[in-house]
Amino acid sequence: MDCLFASSEAHPLIKTGGLADVSGSLPRAIKNAKHEIRLILPAYPAAVANAGALNCVAELSLPGAAAPVRILQGRLPHSRVRLYLVDSPQHFDRPGGPYATPAGDDWPDNAARFALFARAVCEIAMDRAGLDWKPDLVHCNDWQTGLVPALLSLQAGRPATLFTIHNLAYQGLFSLAEFQALQLPMDWWSMHRLEFHGRMSFLKGGLVFADWLSTVSPTYAREIRTPEFGCGLDGLLEHRKARLTGILNGVDYRDWNPGRDRLIPHTYTARTLRLKLENKIALQETFELPPRPQIPVFGHVGRLVEQKGVQLILDLVPELLQRPMQMVILGTGQPELEAALQKARYRHPTKIGVRIGYDEALAHLIEAGSDVFLMPSLFEPCGLNQLYSLRYGTPPLVRRTGGLADSVIDADGPNLYQQTATGFVFDDVDAAQLLRAIDRALNLYAQQRVWKDLVQTGMRQDYSWERSAAAYLELYEKVMELHLRPTDTQSAPARGEAGATA
Ligand code: ADP
Ligand code: GLC
Repeated sequence: MDCLFASSEAHPLIKTGGLADVSGSLPRAIKNAKHEIRLILPAYPAAVANAGALNCVAELSLPGAAAPVRILQGRLPHSRVRLYLVDSPQHFDRPGGPYATPAGDDWPDNAARFALFARAVCEIAMDRAGLDWKPDLVHCNDWQTGLVPALLSLQAGRPATLFTIHNLAYQGLFSLAEFQALQLPMDWWSMHRLEFHGRMSFLKGGLVFADWLSTVSPTYAREIRTPEFGCGLDGLLEHRKARLTGILNGVDYRDWNPGRDRLIPHTYTARTLRLKLENKIALQETFELPPRPQIPVFGHVGRLVEQKGVQLILDLVPELLQRPMQMVILGTGQPELEAALQKARYRHPTKIGVRIGYDEALAHLIEAGSDVFLMPSLFEPCGLNQLYSLRYGTPPLVRRTGGLADSVIDADGPNLYQQTATGFVFDDVDAAQLLRAIDRALNLYAQQRVWKDLVQTGMRQDYSWERSAAAYLELYEKVMELHLRPTDTQSAPARGEAGATA
């Protein structure tokens, strides 16, 4: 089986969040299972710098590009996965992030940038780039690749398409003028195609046109078919539910293994947990908190956006100050959340540590040095930090939603008794419920033997990519089969025919 995996970020080339972790690991796991899979990304300066040796293997003339677009070939670092970088300096050679300026605003030409990327992916997928390779399936990820299934639907003899939703809340919405500038088929300006409440949605390109849809946990696959989580697309997703699969992400235990982690001062295993305590002291020192090994530290790492529920934590600050605990938070994102956290830190420097920014090494130290990992997300398609926390012996405290619900087993009576509990789970977006879960964690923390069982049960969990990759491979086969022998009308709409409602 030959697959082209299209993504807008991949660790260790360029990363803003979990999509990069997935795109850096899943292709490698599939390659290790002896299938050909190639990864394609835009050639941002960071990706070019981190990719190692690259050579130009093709030049394409594409609509929207003033100069020929070069395809640079190399390898995803630490893997045998072939990498293509789409090099259009006009679109990608600039400072800042993959989606935003250094000041944090979206690039004003994002529609043109990711349309160009999609066109390059299609040329390679159709074997028109002179690479002498044609994939059986193109695996697209999130809105940045949403136009790929749409553009491929216009091609006879195209590969099968799978579109994975990592986050339905980011939709790639643009104006009618931007839609017109892209010179896409005019009939795509319809609620049955790309139009979404008067704007163009790149995400709908994937949701409407892909042969199959997937998302990153079984629970989120159900949630997004409801108005509460569907971001206005629940009707479309309900319509396509027979072609929507949830597969939980995995963990790259080469990067996230406390026994071999080069980014933490003291490596440890389930048998040498006293060394975890040394990391805790290093963590307290890093955040200039009093170094008290006996005080439980609650950690959080994440993008500071509404999704992650940081506001719930902020609401509880007065309560938390009353309790024997410390809290450390690393993140970057919305200025008002950053400011509120800084303020809390400034007022209570012996209880709360805050670092605004993106810091890979500190994220590892927080996993290793904390006693509990907080993830009170309002929604969470999968979430990776709770999976990392399990392996680091840092029981996650999570809200029961999306991938959090699928990966953390609450430390209630029966689960504790049967030694199946791995963390703490609360139900509603409600600070009082979060506080009760924190209190349960504090109570259990005081019972050393029970706590150790909880920690060790978590550390034993196996979320390695091999399992998830096997599920993806099974799905790839099903999608290819379906594409070659369509059996019903639920497949992507044929040219000129409406296939779904919004
Ligand atoms: P999302 O993709 O919604 O941001 P995930 O839990 O899937 O959430 O993945 C987030 C990834 O990004 C994790 O690997 C996490 O450690 C990392 N991360 C997020 N914010 C930061 C930060 N400020 N510094 C370092 N790593 C971060
Ligand atoms: C998204 C989601 C996160 C998920 C990640 C990787 O960014 O917010 O929950 O883990 O994608 O799939």
